[in-house]
Amino acid sequence: MNKSQIDLSVTIAGVRFRNPVIAASGTFGYGREYAGIIDVSALGGICTKGLTLNPRTGNAGLRLHETPAGLMNSIGLENPGIAAFLEKELPNLRALGPMVIANLSGSTVEEYAEGAVLLNTSSVDMIELNISCPNVKAGGMTFGLDPEAASSVVRPVRKAAPNKPLMVKLSPNAPDLAAVARACVDAGADALSLVNTFKALALDINARKPVFDNISAGLSGPAIKPIALRMVWELYDTVKVPIVGMGGISNTKDALEFLMAGAMAIEVGSATFAHPPAMIEIINGIAGYMESRKFSRLEEISIRGNRAW
Ligand SMILES: Cc1cc2nc3c(=O)[nH]c(=O)nc-3n(C[C@H](O)[C@H](O)[C@H](O)COP(=O)(O)O)c2cc1C
Repeated sequence: MNKSQIDLSVTIAGVRFRNPVIAASGTFGYGREYAGIIDVSALGGICTKGLTLNPRTGNAGLRLHETPAGLMNSIGLENPGIAAFLEKELPNLRALGPMVIANLSGSTVEEYAEGAVLLNTSSVDMIELNISCPNVKAGGMTFGLDPEAASSVVRPVRKAAPNKPLMVKLSPNAPDLAAVARACVDAGADALSLVNTFKALALDINARKPVFDNISAGLSGPAIKPIALRMVWELYDTVKVPIVGMGGISNTKDALEFLMAGAMAIEVGSATFAHPPAMIEIINGIAGYMESRKFSRLEEISIRGNRAW
């Protein structure tokens, strides 16, 4: 087995990624921000920052706070709005080469659906429906905590964007994640991605108040990896759709663990902030692992049995 015989590609809901490494939403801008820093064209895919129908300025106050093994954020879905994204960012993002996934968010079901209509006729390859953002007061994660609330948004978005594969991004904060996952699939999700950030708290002991204006914020990074991995493992037994795993993936070993646990692809978020070439190193590292094991196809990494998605 040599490197030229190794096939890193993966097809999820009809979308063919050249490799399973995708930049996670909110951590890679719209691609151009990293274009001079790493070889962006080598990535399998890029997820956009969470997009909403109308522009959002995001949250006031501090937005990022480091913890010993992670990162807390309270960005609040700052974005230019879908129409501006389609006009100003998408042509350039498309030209970079990787598959383009639009991360769609909203405050109401109607707003989600109207956003989906705009994306449906665009050139994005896939929609990642974000029902898991913990940093907005209305919408976001509130839809992802409960099975009925989840289907109330997945169903209309599915209808509004019949041309686009639909991946739903789940919240690890859901009391019954399996029930939410099943509800999303029943409502038309073609794939699931998980996890978004964990709701967390940091206090400033000198100011004697919460660090974030919103009090809580979303925790990501190495601290959450074992929990996210367990969730991917369990969902593999729960639903029969492709799973894209993420949460604290920082290096090849982390990525391989998610692929072994049943994820068909992975997303990398916080690690890119600390070490921008992380995703490139992970792509090369996965190929190196496959070569050493004499694997020619990506799905051979899984220890969960093969499924013909
Ligand atoms: C600064 C920041 C902004 C984020 N913005 C979004 C977002 O707009 N939409 C979304 O679905 N997830 C967002 N996320 C969550 C990430 O995409 C990812 O699910 C999470 O950080 C876990 O992966 P990681 O540990 O590799 O960072 C954001 C995360 C961070 C750190």
